[in-house]
Amino acid sequence: MTIYLNGAFMPIEEARVSVLDRGFIFGDGVYEVIPVYSRRAFRMPEHLKRLQHSLDGIKLPNPHNESEWAGILNEIIKLNTPEDQYLYLHITRGVAKRDHAFPVPPVPPTVFVLSNPLPVPPAELLQSGIACITVADNRWLRCDIKSIALLPNVLLRQAAVEAGCAEAILIRDDAFLTEGAASNIFVVKNGKLLAPPKDNLMLPGITYDVILELAAANGIPHEVRRISNAEVFGADELLLTSSTREVLAITTLDGKPVGNGKPGPMFAKLHPLYQTFKREVMRK
Ligand code: PDD
Repeated sequence: MTIYLNGAFMPIEEARVSVLDRGFIFGDGVYEVIPVYSRRAFRMPEHLKRLQHSLDGIKLPNPHNESEWAGILNEIIKLNTPEDQYLYLHITRGVAKRDHAFPVPPVPPTVFVLSNPLPVPPAELLQSGIACITVADNRWLRCDIKSIALLPNVLLRQAAVEAGCAEAILIRDDAFLTEGAASNIFVVKNGKLLAPPKDNLMLPGITYDVILELAAANGIPHEVRRISNAEVFGADELLLTSSTREVLAITTLDGKPVGNGKPGPMFAKLHPLYQTFKREVMRK
């Protein structure tokens, strides 16, 4: 496995980062996850735009312009074997004496890119759907920043795993849906697809965008608005999206069936649309 670290491509075994890296000490950095289909990064400009938003959010200058990023990412894709990969980009504020405030003068950021094989959601999960729990969203108020400080998300996902579930669905202020611990969540009611608004309380998912575009292009009624927790519990269907899990049906919530407990008609429409989109757009 070949990675990129601070200007050089190398086997992962040779990669070294200082223990004083602010990513290690403070979680002071941001990241991106970009899926690659047939060796083509999907929506690279959109991912780089979201990366810029995250960097701006933590006041860290972007170490590379778009064409430099494209050069690094395309080289990493070439140097790794899988046809379908996911790229993990990780940028921290660099190595400095431990002090919460930014280093003065600034130090070079740490820039790390990793490629992993892109997982395919197993057929049995598509058949059965997944089980989720709801948990209180106890994260900070800048969930639009793709921060490497993921301890809240780690604990929330772990709570799901310990309940025998695949994901935690996050409810803010005991009142409304935000997203999943590492995914976006859609609600279906009376044939309409409902999505929470892209605001400071959720990560604006690239897969979320694809699902809403597919809904718009295929005449599927949809609406972006706040979704109450009552609507989550009263949903006909619940869907989960992310770059690494595509679109999945949530068929059990807090141990109770969602709708009739099977993937529903909205999933039956959107999943094939997503697969066609993958074949005809992402792979071309
Ligand atoms: N996470 N919300 C959160 C909190 C996420 O961590 C992710 C993705 C998403 C979905 O975004 P996208 O559709 O762009 O993948 C929403 C990635 C996959 C991760 O952390 O590994």
